[in-house]
Amino acid sequence: VESNYSNNRPCEKLFEPITFNGMTIKNRIVMTAMHLNYTPTGEVTSQFTDFYRERVAGGAGLIVVGGAPVNVIGGGSLMLGGWDDRFIPGLAEFVEEMKKTDPDVRLGVQLYHAGRYAWSLLTGQQPISSSAVSSRYNKETPRALEIKEMPEVQQDFADSALRFKKAGFDTIEIVGSAGYLINQFLSPAVNKRTDEYGGSFENRARFGIETVQRVRKSVGDDYPIFMRVAGADFVPGGHTNAESAEACALFEKAGVDAFSVTGGWHETRVPQLTMSVPRGAYAYLAQGIRNKVTVPVVACNRINDPQVGERILAEGRADMVGIARGLIADAELPNKAQAGSYRTIRKCIACNQGCFDHVFMGLDVNCLVNFRAGREGFYSTTKKADSPKNVVVIGGGPGGCEAARVAAELGHRVTLFEQQDKLGGGLRLCAAPPGREEFYELINFHAVCLAESNIDVRMSTTATVEAVKELDPDLVVYAGGAEPVLPALMQNTKHPNVHLAKDVLLGNVPCFGDTVIVGGGAVGCETALYLSHNDQMKSDVAAFLIRTGAETAERVTELINEPIRQVHLVEMLPKVGEDIGKTTRWTMMLELRRSGIAIYRETKVLAIKENGVRIQSESGEEGFIECANVVVATGYRPKTGFAESLVAAGLKVQVIGDAASPRMAINAIEEGFKAAWNL
Ligand SMILES: Cc1cc2nc3c(=O)[nH]c(=O)nc-3n(C[C@H](O)[C@H](O)[C@H](O)COP(=O)(O)O)c2cc1C
Ligand code: SF4
Repeated sequence: VESNYSNNRPCEKLFEPITFNGMTIKNRIVMTAMHLNYTPTGEVTSQFTDFYRERVAGGAGLIVVGGAPVNVIGGGSLMLGGWDDRFIPGLAEFVEEMKKTDPDVRLGVQLYHAGRYAWSLLTGQQPISSSAVSSRYNKETPRALEIKEMPEVQQDFADSALRFKKAGFDTIEIVGSAGYLINQFLSPAVNKRTDEYGGSFENRARFGIETVQRVRKSVGDDYPIFMRVAGADFVPGGHTNAESAEACALFEKAGVDAFSVTGGWHETRVPQLTMSVPRGAYAYLAQGIRNKVTVPVVACNRINDPQVGERILAEGRADMVGIARGLIADAELPNKAQAGSYRTIRKCIACNQGCFDHVFMGLDVNCLVNFRAGREGFYSTTKKADSPKNVVVIGGGPGGCEAARVAAELGHRVTLFEQQDKLGGGLRLCAAPPGREEFYELINFHAVCLAESNIDVRMSTTATVEAVKELDPDLVVYAGGAEPVLPALMQNTKHPNVHLAKDVLLGNVPCFGDTVIVGGGAVGCETALYLSHNDQMKSDVAAFLIRTGAETAERVTELINEPIRQVHLVEMLPKVGEDIGKTTRWTMMLELRRSGIAIYRETKVLAIKENGVRIQSESGEEGFIECANVVVATGYRPKTGFAESLVAAGLKVQVIGDAASPRMAINAIEEGFKAAWNL
């Protein structure tokens, strides 16, 4: 088991209760709001209820559902309904069901209005905002709200709050974060008004303050109100943390009882949610706000490990911690942390493949590491096999490990063969590039599950047909992975340093000096970033130079980004990184640019010569790139020879993951899970 982060200190602070405005939360873990796409008509569904029932049972102190649009123009009908009384009975049933599971859980709902971030395709209306400033996020141009229209929008928040109070929710949360409507008034980045709702700080805060006041009036004094805020906007001309904190002080005066502090706007170019964001990186934003208000503050973003949360609380940076994706990945995270079984927590790896990417594709939220997320009603944790079978799994990558784990949990007898002395398979390549180390957590999780099960794990063992037959398997799950495609141009080259991307990523070959990477898919991009990151000044050196005043922060930034060699990325298609999920791709493209990597799109490599590569662009123009290394990242193909031998020997074989067709880890996990489930 490898881990960069975890230790086994008890999480005491995390499990201290907290009370404010008459509400006691049993611990400091807040599951923050997530639009899950489980409520296509706005009504609560069984999928929604089943998902949250497990999270309530898992021990989170406060669960905030939603965002729930307060009116249609604010978000559209695919989100949890907050804009009409007809939703109340379904919501009340939901609350009852959750409280049946744990009477001590506290439930909140987020009152949502996206303003200019709303999609007209979903709302059927032009979005509204403080000013008519178009958005690069959804390519919409809103219209500026007229003063006479404002009370109605604010009253929609207030009416919605009352609806949720009537349905039995313990608290509501007003969305003033992420660059949504209240933020759009607050921040000079887009508020260009010249009336009493624009210009000065007080004027820009007015819309939010009035909204809070109306909500307070509607729910009464003794009902807790949360507000979600951007700890800093992270957009040009937007608010810094200090200004956000000033605004929170005003919102507190208007009636807010607690602040949930996230990072920047949806439009920001500063990554907020990808695995390149260090764990707990934005806790300092919560701290900045905590210094200016007297009410509790929740620190959010990338707190996927209870130890990180405990530390934030112990350091006094926040009063509670927000965990969103960490509770998709493992509903039991709080209970496991309280029991001290940290090793068994299935951590969110911030890949976004099953959650954010799905939302952007209009799909339900699922999870790479937890296939059951969003499917709780179909895959019960209590199912056991009627008649235990013999299962042989070949390959200890993500799909194979998942198949073995689930089969063993169901009660089958499992043997797993892994050729290498380490688990992980192709996932080790995914984990190699800078900022992608979280993938190791999935390998760790599987390693712990296998070690704690009665699976016969045969490491460093190449399976043979005889050895498999001897185990008399009812099913062989073949998860032997894929192998690199070797293009013809690799043969007969006199270049002394031609490597496969996987060997570079795994550190098996030295690779110094100018480098051409052939193939600009995910692996090519990751290899380019891996090389440039290896060259970069290390973060401890950078911090040392800044802290001691040896260099200015500006100069250190230059030094970090100054390439000491040229990396070239050559891709035949018009786009590089096409096979990277939408919500991660832009961060990698930014990094490629920042690292000075030369990208050649719609360009073929014609030949690898002694001292470089000959290329040809789509228009037929030829060129030559001199380089010390050529790295080939031209894709993978399934490795199925052994599976065929097993079939020929009369065994029942199911091929899964990259061995079936090279794809993303989320596909391998799904196929591994289903292979075991359907035994
Ligand atoms: C699928 C998805 C939908 C989300 N929807 C909302 C939302 O409607 N309102 C909101 O304030 N935050 C939303 N978030 C952000 C989360 O509440 C949380 O702040 C973010 O995921 C970072 O925390 P984490 O690293 O613990 O996941 C969403 C997150 C995800 C993954
Ligand atoms: S899909 Fe990835 S980012 Fe989303 S919850 Fe699962 S592990 Fe976390």
